Amino acid sequence: MTNSYREDFPILLRDDTIYFDNAATSQRPRQVTEAMRRFDETCNANPMRGLYRWSIEATEQYEQARSDAAELIGAADSREIVFTRNTTESINLAAYSYGLNFLKEGDEIVVSVMEHHSNLLPWQMVSRQTGARLVFLEPEADGTLTEQELLSKITPRTRLVAIGHVSNVLGVTNPVKRIAEIAHQNGALVLVDGAQSTPHMPVNVQELGADFYAFSGHKMLGPMGIGALYARKELLEEMPPFLSGGEMIEYVSRESATYAEIPHKFEAGTVNASGAAGLSAAIHYLKNVGFYTIRETEERLTARLMKGLQELPYITIYGSQDSKKHCGIVTFNIEGCHPHDVASVLDSEQVAIRAGHHCAQPLMKFLGVGSTARASLYFYNTEEEVDRFLDKISKVRGWLGY
Ligand code: ALA
Repeated sequence: MTNSYREDFPILLRDDTIYFDNAATSQRPRQVTEAMRRFDETCNANPMRGLYRWSIEATEQYEQARSDAAELIGAADSREIVFTRNTTESINLAAYSYGLNFLKEGDEIVVSVMEHHSNLLPWQMVSRQTGARLVFLEPEADGTLTEQELLSKITPRTRLVAIGHVSNVLGVTNPVKRIAEIAHQNGALVLVDGAQSTPHMPVNVQELGADFYAFSGHKMLGPMGIGALYARKELLEEMPPFLSGGEMIEYVSRESATYAEIPHKFEAGTVNASGAAGLSAAIHYLKNVGFYTIRETEERLTARLMKGLQELPYITIYGSQDSKKHCGIVTFNIEGCHPHDVASVLDSEQVAIRAGHHCAQPLMKFLGVGSTARASLYFYNTEEEVDRFLDKISKVRGWLGY
């Protein structure tokens, strides 16, 4: 089956490379790069500062991107979107601004063993500096977090649950709505790391019950260097700024300052306005494709990929053996072959996958491995690519002399 979306992605037409590293970063359609070029060529000026036309237009585009991001994730108010560089910075903002100021000794921060380091290290820092204790949710072998595990770890001592929506290794979708219900019943807040979910599924932060929600532009067709932190308005209003300096103030005297209204209080310095224009275009592109099509395509391709891998007895797939539970992410090892060698030999065959610990070392330890290979798909991939990939995978052991 051909995939007409590929025509929009110049890099996919460059050569025969099979790009299966979409969980690391997605490719950008020309609509996104053109939107950024249009910004640069028609209204590049510092947003929110100038009283002249170009700056006003730059401000309008930047604020339009904020509204688009708010609508994409179902935020009630666009002021609840703070632009950052990426998910990592978004979670650090929450950790430094909320965690350090509102958590204390005796409190518990619940995370899962499968967190990306970006949703673990900031909470380790908060734990070290405040005395709050880190508590880990342990998944089943297939990545499932059971009701019993949630109820035993989220307790009245819990002040915050920080949880990935979709694991960047197992592809499992965590029950964040249920986690938020239990957290809220215990008086705790919930931060959702949406880096791997926002590109693939409809998200509504209000329905999920997320108090904080972080995501990156570059994994959802947008440019690198722009991401966002959603937080409920009341939270943002009581949190102090994370970074301080230009454009986040109301009034500055020699000794002190009062801060701008949200979200500007959290956006110190010159912002990434052309990145925001690109993010807007990415959101429009995703909406045009539609999350139904995205999911249907990914499920079809993942089923074909997993079936092919499962037919090879020397391959271990981590997480669920049900392809519907992978959100396009398939992490595996080939018996006898180091994943770095697998990725390198595949690179010489024009295949791009990721190998290593995937910034999730506690999960690697839980799985009993040092590293793995990972193929991650997106809606612009094709069945023909999956078949070519499987053919090459079946030859890897021979190429590596196993
Ligand atoms: N977090 C990205 C990944 O999983 C970089 O590859």
